[in-house]
Amino acid sequence: MADLAVGTPLDVYLAQVTQADAGLHDTAAVVAAIAEAAIGISAVIGRGALGGDLAASGEQNSDGDVQKALDVIAHERVTEALRGAPVATVASEEAEGVMVLNAAAPLAVAIDPLDGSSNIGVNMAVGTVFGIRPVVAGEDVEASFRTPGTTQLAAGFVSYGPATALIVTFGQGTQSFVLDRDQGKFRLTAAAMKIPAAAKEYAVNASNARFWDPPVKAFVEDCLRGTEGPRDKDFNMRWLGSMVADIQRVLTRGGVFLYPGDSRKGYARGRLRLLYEVAPVAMLIEQAGGAATDGQERILDMVAAGIHERAPLVCGSTDEVACVSTYYAGGKPDAGRSPLFGQRGLMRP
Ligand code: F6P
Repeated sequence: MADLAVGTPLDVYLAQVTQADAGLHDTAAVVAAIAEAAIGISAVIGRGALGGDLAASGEQNSDGDVQKALDVIAHERVTEALRGAPVATVASEEAEGVMVLNAAAPLAVAIDPLDGSSNIGVNMAVGTVFGIRPVVAGEDVEASFRTPGTTQLAAGFVSYGPATALIVTFGQGTQSFVLDRDQGKFRLTAAAMKIPAAAKEYAVNASNARFWDPPVKAFVEDCLRGTEGPRDKDFNMRWLGSMVADIQRVLTRGGVFLYPGDSRKGYARGRLRLLYEVAPVAMLIEQAGGAATDGQERILDMVAAGIHERAPLVCGSTDEVACVSTYYAGGKPDAGRSPLFGQRGLMRP
């Protein structure tokens, strides 16, 4: 594919993708449809409370989470957009079962229409996450989603932050676009995102520390010990509580993001959903030169048994992800050697 200049509109980029690989024509059409929906969602979010109470509670979703008004708006907008695209089936966080749109179409889309719901209504970044797979023919509409993440033809997310950004991969690097609000179109801002191998920033919900596995505790403990610990460098911590925003930071300047499994009821496999959160992020991260595992296993090799299945996620700079794997492999220290993890420590259950 020819090198594209910063500022290139998304439609020009998608035309190039299709020109380079005609097999991606339909996939590019789905990305265009999601981008179109995202422009509308971005406008709703941009009006904030002027548009009504976007955090107003509604029904419970598949997760048992209470849906907020914006969750429902985003779900309706993306579903509507996907109806006009070559999409057979959709697995959405906001729908219990697989939705059949156009059974004869070639693609299956897993989507979280509104990621980071706890940030709705407080003017913080939220997002839309998606992974696009080929349809597996047959009666079973879930079959297309029971394939490894390596079958994703494209994956991406939109983050509705100070700027609205679309980060996407078609398996040829990870590209980032920003919504040009004056023109109503996304424009290229990075043709090949590159995550540095080494980093000094980590993202984790530390309030769950007492529920973590020993390897995660040990990893975070050594980050906290900084130059006084075995990592011999000082770390910074950032946790926005909105995966898309945390991952965009990791993609942009490196770092490691962790949402591990923990011992809380229902959290053995963490919080994030394999199909429409973890696998798309894993593809974006790998395509930007990073790594994505559940602490041990490569995310993109995992197969979901059900469409709302969860998976732990450790992803970002390769050195940091490898370090977490080392702890899981038993290669690192005994928890409890630092005061923070001692009997009366902060991090010990
Ligand atoms: O459900 C997804 C999500 O909102 C992510 O966007 C975010 O990283 C995570 O949950 C936040 O979880 P917690 O509330 O445990 O910090």
